[in-house]
Amino acid sequence: MSDPAVNVEKVRTTPLPNVSDISGRMFGEQELVNLTEVIQTGKLFRFGGKFVQQFEEDFAAMMGMKHAVAITSGTAAIHTALGALNCDVAQEMITTPITDMGTVAPILLQNCIPIFADLELDYFDLLPESIESRITEKTQAIIVVHLFGQPANMDAILALGKKYKIPVIEDCCQAYLAKYKGNLVGTMGAIGCFSLQQSKHMSSGDGGIIVTNDDELARRARLFADKGWPRGGDVRQYGFLGLNYRMNELTGAVAVAQVGKVEGIVNNRRRNAEAITERLSSIPGIITPKVREGCEHSWWLYPFMIDDDAFSLTPKEFAAAVSAQGVGVGHGYIGQPIYMCQILQEKATYGKSQCPFSCPHYGKELNYMPEDCPNTLEILRRLLILPCNELFTEKDIDDIVTAVTKVAKAHAK
Ligand SMILES: Cc1ncc(COP(=O)(O)O)c(C=O)c1O
Repeated sequence: MSDPAVNVEKVRTTPLPNVSDISGRMFGEQELVNLTEVIQTGKLFRFGGKFVQQFEEDFAAMMGMKHAVAITSGTAAIHTALGALNCDVAQEMITTPITDMGTVAPILLQNCIPIFADLELDYFDLLPESIESRITEKTQAIIVVHLFGQPANMDAILALGKKYKIPVIEDCCQAYLAKYKGNLVGTMGAIGCFSLQQSKHMSSGDGGIIVTNDDELARRARLFADKGWPRGGDVRQYGFLGLNYRMNELTGAVAVAQVGKVEGIVNNRRRNAEAITERLSSIPGIITPKVREGCEHSWWLYPFMIDDDAFSLTPKEFAAAVSAQGVGVGHGYIGQPIYMCQILQEKATYGKSQCPFSCPHYGKELNYMPEDCPNTLEILRRLLILPCNELFTEKDIDDIVTAVTKVAKAHAK
């Protein structure tokens, strides 16, 4: 076969709007005004400043939640959620094999064991039957990821949580303002966790926030993110083990301005994703993403697939061929189930200890095998990823569709 990536006249010669820089990010005057105020007042610490607190209040109001706690990253948000739950060590937490390490590392840092359930082939979210098959007497949490902005099957997952008395934590790092049957993701489980890293719908470079309606979880979360210190009394009383995950005012200044923009960002992405779907779905062999019935996707990325029998290219070759047209398409997202990464395969945790896997309190032998989650392997083999940006113009969408169409036509069987 000739290399599909060579000798092509590109559809697109300039970059698409991109989340890595201002071409695809909505940072502007309000962020600058707020940042200037922080510097001019000299109040960069959240206690004494006003922006982090304002960010928490605005975010809680937007989500319709009682409490929001600002944190330093999405990873720290998940860690704080688990710290708030206060599980014993060597317990199990069920989560998804297609996610960022930020979902999984906090489980290990709380000295618990990540257990991976398989995914739904159509939606790439946790498969409730697979979660149930993984539940044991040690299961202490289910951490749901609304992958790419697609809400997970929350009715079934919350029902499992209720049946087995296991809290559900929602990882919404990729899913701002996505809705499941009218409910915002992050508002249905015990705690919702968000990231403000550079590529997320709203960003402050890095940052995070959690939401909950539970007073006790909120109290513990605040303390966990501030070294267990309630900041009062004559002596410093550190009540329980926590870390410093406090957001600072510079970050808060940007984050609070971003809250006001995220609805518009998500609406634009919805409009753009729908336009891409409408036009790609008429190309034979292109499988456009389904949105779960009754749900609103928020399109962190635009995942799609190709019909294996329709083209003379593998999915990976298809991605390379479209990328050669000047429209970057990724293949396989994280490339392998996260349980195949070195940390989990080699149990590379604390020195040579292999804790918590080797912990006597755990008392089980666990080795993650590739075939643990067959749907996940199939999804990763076939998954193609286009960007979905709030600042795409009609011309950008036209170029994306033209590039995919050109490759599809050139390599149709
Ligand atoms: C699903 C998911 N969970 C957790 C994280 C971790 O967020 P952060 O990078 O802000 O620590 C990310 C970020 O990439 C993510 O996409």
